[in-house]
Amino acid sequence: MNQELIVRRTAEYARKRMEDEASGHDWWHAWRVWKTAVRIAKKEGADLFVVQLAALLHDIADWKFNDGDVSIVEKDVRKLLEKLCVEEHVTSHVCEIIGNVSFRGAGVKARMRTKEGMIVQDADRLDAIGAIGIARAFAYGGFKGKEIYNPNILPGKHKTFEEYKNAESTTINHFYEKLLLLKDLMNTETGKEIAEERHRFMENFLEEFFEEWEGRRYLQQQ
Ligand code: ADP
Ligand code: NI
Repeated sequence: MNQELIVRRTAEYARKRMEDEASGHDWWHAWRVWKTAVRIAKKEGADLFVVQLAALLHDIADWKFNDGDVSIVEKDVRKLLEKLCVEEHVTSHVCEIIGNVSFRGAGVKARMRTKEGMIVQDADRLDAIGAIGIARAFAYGGFKGKEIYNPNILPGKHKTFEEYKNAESTTINHFYEKLLLLKDLMNTETGKEIAEERHRFMENFLEEFFEEWEGRRYLQQQ
């Protein structure tokens, strides 16, 4: 089986498994991460085969298991890639990347060992910022019943993952707690370039948001 066909089969597998899932961890996120990862990989010169497989499968842990059990996911991924006759060293590399992207350890920063891993991580983080990042944040906030914004709740600096997860917060605060920090966490130069643009877009959005909230423009016209 050639690589293109294996990637296509893997995409079908990811789409089916993610679409069937009621929790709605959506296939389109995986699709966008795939496309962005390819764009970065072409510029950075990385193994496109590994990057594509890892990008497509990177969030399977999140949607199927509440606590993202990586070992069970790895078993599924190995079964799939074995069936598609992918070489063992490629499969191991893909599993390593998926394990690191999904990792949410308290205060422990997941470090990617390879360029391919760094690219998938950048692509995943890029999908959390910019216009799509804004849309995803408010969709998530709505799903969790969070307020859009509340001037009485200040953004928090969370020391542990538990603290971060349980904090009472608003979606606007999520920008200050996480989304505006992602730009400086990019691994690759290409990732950084794309992040700069998306970051500026979020800053403009927030500026406009607060201007409307405070009604400054309206007052100036009086
Ligand atoms: P990913 O699937 O890319 O690894 P997550 O599962 O952490 O990302 O989050 C999915 C989306 O929901 C992201 O766009 C993220 O910014 C958003 N999100 C996560 N936590 C919050 C929150 N507390 N408030 C608003 N949006 C959030
Ligand atoms: Ni993701």
